[in-house]
Amino acid sequence: MAEIAVIGAGYVGLTTAACFSHLGHDVICADIDEARIAQLVRGEVPIVEAGLEALVREGLEGGRLRFVVGAANAAPSAEFAYLCVPTPQGDDGAADLAYIEAAAREIGPVLPSEAVVVNKSTVPVGSTRVVERVLGRDDVVVVSNPEFLREGSAVHDFLNPDRIVIGSDDQSAAVRVASLYIGVTAPIIVTDPPSAETIKYASNAFLAAKVSFVNALAAVCDAVGADVKDVVLGMGYDTRIGHEFLKPGPGFGGSCLPKDTRALVHIADSAGYSFDLLRGVITVNEDQFHRVAAKVREMAGGSLEGVRVAVWGLTFKARTDDTRESPALRIVSLLAEQGAEVQAYDPAVKGPIGGVVPANDPYSVCDGAQVLAVLTEWDDFRWLDFDKVAGLMETPRVVDARNLLDRPALERRGFRYVGIGR
Ligand code: NAD
Ligand code: UGA
Repeated sequence: MAEIAVIGAGYVGLTTAACFSHLGHDVICADIDEARIAQLVRGEVPIVEAGLEALVREGLEGGRLRFVVGAANAAPSAEFAYLCVPTPQGDDGAADLAYIEAAAREIGPVLPSEAVVVNKSTVPVGSTRVVERVLGRDDVVVVSNPEFLREGSAVHDFLNPDRIVIGSDDQSAAVRVASLYIGVTAPIIVTDPPSAETIKYASNAFLAAKVSFVNALAAVCDAVGADVKDVVLGMGYDTRIGHEFLKPGPGFGGSCLPKDTRALVHIADSAGYSFDLLRGVITVNEDQFHRVAAKVREMAGGSLEGVRVAVWGLTFKARTDDTRESPALRIVSLLAEQGAEVQAYDPAVKGPIGGVVPANDPYSVCDGAQVLAVLTEWDDFRWLDFDKVAGLMETPRVVDARNLLDRPALERRGFRYVGIGR
């Protein structure tokens, strides 16, 4: 079993730390956020992530997981140091490596000889070399090991990955990193660092392309009177296409797909290739926010001026509390810009965000509303009392941007219903 330092205690870092300690390793996880570390030391997990708190507590109680403030405090005895810090979008669309470089600068002087530094953050091609330069250590190897977990199922995805990708020119370092995943069954792809870094961006860009494809297809279905759910079902049985990631909705969001698609466009541009296909994916996604706002406007009779709109769902998808680059927030701001009075509810969002102060329950936002917009696919929404909702609303009309609700059941209760592509 190995001694592992994990730098960054966010969605990826905390999951990595908790799961590696669950696999039997000794893990020290560091963050610069003192309040976050204080919470974690008490066994309190500051994010909504199924199964994570149980693993954190298991690690703390078993003495295999510790939390410290500051990367330098985690690194002195580390055989492996995982970088799990943010790589936000910079001004020109490229990924900003400032956090990666800062973390590398902090651990460089204190890492033991023969340590392996592992980039788990999503980083542009060439970043492995950047980290090597910043570390300035001949006796430390840098390896790329991108992460493919999804928020909301992070623990499950980490422990049951579709694949493990390791990018290194040093075969023995690659084997050492692979051995950390003892107990995890998955194909392991060992390649060079630029290929590993490209696999990560290409995977997210391809997923984004699937979502934009189905959203564009939904627009066609709307226009020709086809039902996109049946169309996608019929397509998905072709094993070359598959059923996954083809749900139409309000557009893709979150902390990664939007920034990573833009970063790959930038990487391609810098390398002399104009990735127009991916530009199209981004444009279709931007259009989708406007298409959903237009559906709400049409449902309200052509104008949103002074119209009360109830919104269910603010997170970028269900089963997370993350609102970063949430399509729901984009749509809320488009509605507000057009004069709508928006009242919103989300089971995981309690504080003010994006100009709205979320209500405490889904019914109160419907009081006097002329249109209800469902923007996040929380399962809870399907099981609400729609007789009560109809009674509360001034006019029972729903724009279901996730095709979540039972349309016939709503229509039986007198609702006018519009979905996406059906
Ligand atoms: P996050 O914002 O949730 O967490 C990052 C953490 O790093 C924060 O808590 C921050 O305080 C901390 N941090 C920043 N600088 C630090 C330093 N010098 N020392 C110690 N801690 C520091 O970010 P995230 O969602 O976990 O993403 C991290 C990286 O992983 C990004 O590159 C992202 O693209 C990638 N990624 C994210 C996901 C996801 O689902 N969120 C999945 C795969 C890959
Ligand atoms: C995504 C990838 O799925 C992960 O593999 C990757 O590790 C991660 O990004 C990352 O690099 O951070 P995540 O951001 O958690 O994971 O969210 P997804 O489940 O991929 O959803 C992204 C967006 O697409 C959401 O807004 C979601 O609602 C939307 N989506 C997804 C659809 O509209 N339709 C679909 O069929 C699937």
